[in-house]
Amino acid sequence: MKEEKYLVTSALPYANGPIHLGHIAGAYLPADIYVRYQRLMKRDVLYICGTDEHGVPITITAEMEGITPKEIVDKYYQLHKESFKRFGISFDNFSRTSYQLHYETSQDFFLTLYKKDYLTEKTTRQFYCVYDKRFLSDRYVEGICPNCKTAGARGDQCESCGKWLEQTMLIEPECKLCGNTPEIRKTKHWFLKLGEFQERLENWINSKKGWKENVVNFCNGWFKEGLQDRAVTRDLDWGVPVPLENAKGKVLYVWFDAPIGYISSTKEWAQKIGKPDLWKKYWMDKNTKLIHFIGKDNIVFHAIFFPAMLMAYTEYILPENVPANEFLNLEGNKLSTSKNYAVWLDDYLEKFPPDPLRYCLASISPETKDTDFSWKDFQARNNFVLADIVGNFINRTLTFAEKYFDNRIPHPENLSESDKAMLETSQKSFKVIGEFIENFQIRNGVKELINVARTGNKYFNDEAPWKNIRDNVGRCKTTIYVCIQVVGSLALLMYPFMPFTSEKIRKILNIDAELNNLKWGDNIRDKLSPGHILGKPEILFKKIEDSEIEPEIEKLRSISMQLKSKKEEVNYVDISEFKKIDIRVATVTNCERIKGAKNLLKFEVDDGEGKRQIVAGVAQYYEPDELIGKRIIIVTNLKPVKLMGETSNGMLLAATYGDKLTLLTTDREIDTGSKIS
Ligand code: 2FM
Ligand code: ZN
Repeated sequence: MKEEKYLVTSALPYANGPIHLGHIAGAYLPADIYVRYQRLMKRDVLYICGTDEHGVPITITAEMEGITPKEIVDKYYQLHKESFKRFGISFDNFSRTSYQLHYETSQDFFLTLYKKDYLTEKTTRQFYCVYDKRFLSDRYVEGICPNCKTAGARGDQCESCGKWLEQTMLIEPECKLCGNTPEIRKTKHWFLKLGEFQERLENWINSKKGWKENVVNFCNGWFKEGLQDRAVTRDLDWGVPVPLENAKGKVLYVWFDAPIGYISSTKEWAQKIGKPDLWKKYWMDKNTKLIHFIGKDNIVFHAIFFPAMLMAYTEYILPENVPANEFLNLEGNKLSTSKNYAVWLDDYLEKFPPDPLRYCLASISPETKDTDFSWKDFQARNNFVLADIVGNFINRTLTFAEKYFDNRIPHPENLSESDKAMLETSQKSFKVIGEFIENFQIRNGVKELINVARTGNKYFNDEAPWKNIRDNVGRCKTTIYVCIQVVGSLALLMYPFMPFTSEKIRKILNIDAELNNLKWGDNIRDKLSPGHILGKPEILFKKIEDSEIEPEIEKLRSISMQLKSKKEEVNYVDISEFKKIDIRVATVTNCERIKGAKNLLKFEVDDGEGKRQIVAGVAQYYEPDELIGKRIIIVTNLKPVKLMGETSNGMLLAATYGDKLTLLTTDREIDTGSKIS
């Protein structure tokens, strides 16, 4: 039987803003834990990623910041690469979708599907903004989601319910650049015949074992509705050009080219190691298990859209699993890049070491439901779990060996039942934790890891080596020998979760150089035999003081207060409510006082469709004569009312300030009856 291989990917992050904890918890940390574990299992595993540099997320950010898309992606490619490295995310390759190799790979994909007749050319309806003179692709238009009715849904996807939208389905669409209502115009695009793949996709997904329930349910929801053809091109000037003669000005849809980025990044990796064809060993061999780590908002693209593309191409393998995570919230609120409500990874790394966060995020991993990160919880996990349990066990063992055994591993006597039980607990946990990781249950995995250290502390306390050193040195030596074996096991067990601390411990144990020779589940006793010289112990986890996290909490509190007070101050009306009001330009055809009413004037106006009477309280401010012939603004669909016996069929718009009043009029010549929107 051929050897199994693992090809692991994390969602390619958009190169338009820094990485925050939500990204890390969703797609990067779980993948890195998985990959590090597989490496220690000595399995053939390749971990692939890179920046997603196309699409509207990039061009919008560039436009907002007044710089070019290229400047944006260059900046964030570097930033992402560095932050991931500092956090220990151990990609084998981190590429970019703006590389030539990616262009070629994506264009080849498009042309292959085109030639196989899986792409069809259609004239389609798209939003077009007449003010900005452009088609509004994807996020350039926002509106109300037709599915969940949440406002702020984008032209391609609703963030709230995850629905992948055709933009013209949006209710009350708005141009993201100028806020105007776009019109619908015709344009030509190429569509993937997704519907043709429904049956195969459905059979494939429902035959997969070990997929998360949320992912399968989400996909079945799609199947129930029926898969529709999807446009895979866009009217944009940033992206991979569509490789057809009659496609000037068109680029590939970012969700068509981004997942192909996994392939081109693998190709780049193969080229870098001087074996340019080696990528095929992963992508075109059914012994490869392809695993996509993503956040839940990416499910449809990785479990339906990209697999359909792969099926259409035919030579490629399909994903083995798509372990999508739910979302991570922050201090009880939704994380938001645009509102700056986030903990940014590079910012975190300026202040704290990576492993406590890796541990904390693994412990609260949003595997089956949304979870919440809070600084207090982070501090507690660091201080009371990492420092007090794990650090304490390792430190008390190693300082004991330093103090009483001259930093050498002591010779044990015959092992007692409790010694054996302790060694068995740590040895067994390799299997237990390994199975959890293989099943994408990193919360359970990390919990088991802590249990080993907790058991170690109990064993240390029960055996009381500080007493035995005086009256039973043999027992004392055995206890410390056993504890050092457990520390050795912990160094390996924690490698996927906390690689930096694992390395520190391996250094102290003097087995540092031997990670290559260490295997998950190996009995560490061969490396840590009696007489082996140990290095100098050091504190592994520093306690985090209140004063260190208080500014972080305060920062988030103040952002969330600002956001809340903004919401409270503004009494928002829905655009649909506003649009119910019919406001028009009208011309005053006659105006006179009303007998007995000091404040009222009776207007006769032409509203473009005919005459109407309006009564308004402006007699202190205007003489009737000066108003005749004036162009004013009126509301035409207010319920008619009677004032001093006269019917008022509408309302004039006026601005008031203190005791001043002025009627609104138009800035330029415009026809009577023109609508105001
Ligand atoms: O949602 C995102 O951040 C996308 N950039 C993920 C892309 S994943 C892949 F397909 F490349
Ligand atoms: Zn516009």
